[in-house]
Amino acid sequence: LKEGKITGAINVVWDGKSEKYMRKPAQGELNLTPGAAYVHICSNETIEGIRFNNFPQTDAPLIADMSSEIMSRVIDVNKFGMIYAGAQKNIGPSGLALVIIKKELVARCPDTVPVFFRYKTHAENQSLYNTPNTWAIYIVKLVTDWLLGLGGVAGMEKINEEKAALLYKTLDASAYWTTPANKADRSSMNVVWRLPSEELEEKFVKQATAAGLIGLKGHRSVGGIRASIYNACSLDDVKALCAFMAEFEKSNG
Ligand SMILES: Cc1ncc(COP(=O)(O)O)c(C=O)c1O
Repeated sequence: LKEGKITGAINVVWDGKSEKYMRKPAQGELNLTPGAAYVHICSNETIEGIRFNNFPQTDAPLIADMSSEIMSRVIDVNKFGMIYAGAQKNIGPSGLALVIIKKELVARCPDTVPVFFRYKTHAENQSLYNTPNTWAIYIVKLVTDWLLGLGGVAGMEKINEEKAALLYKTLDASAYWTTPANKADRSSMNVVWRLPSEELEEKFVKQATAAGLIGLKGHRSVGGIRASIYNACSLDDVKALCAFMAEFEKSNG
């Protein structure tokens, strides 16, 4: 939003702040501007763990930041003017970004944009306008080969659905755990929950770390627990987490 304001007028079509960003908006809630150049969304939000299950319908080209869920589920790219994603979650190492953009949008770039920042420059030069991060691109090849072996994005989506379903089932089965995110908007990449007290949450993270289950502390802005179960996290990893949770509840419930 801040960056967009540098280049033009911006209208906030919906703001989840008053509800602490616990849900995604319904189509009818969007205050869309007629004739807008584009509409921007973040398809999966990592802090509260919410995602768009149904993408907004817009006349203007829809642009989505898919950094935290790219290649985790099948997406109809035709619905988007542009999709962009940092590589660091599901594609490969940090330092790369993937862009899927309609040709008509590539052509629409004004001359006031510095040459390097024009998608046209990179499209015309097959992403070789400058010397790219070759090592990271090589790792992306290894990741995508691995993904193809699992049945591609469709195969990965099935695994991700199974992982998320198992974890949410564990959370929903007991009042010991609470899940703040709106159920219909639950993310299958970032699963967020609370324990009865912050002391228990601290104990949970500490004991989980000792058991080899790392990175479960929630984002510093909201606290609680968060499991980021990106593509690299296996079904067995999630099973291990759920088994640990059952044991923890037994001893601390
Ligand atoms: C949806 C989304 N966008 C952007 C970012 C930030 O990416 P970067 O650190 O590459 O700016 C993240 C987190 O890494 C994210 O989850």
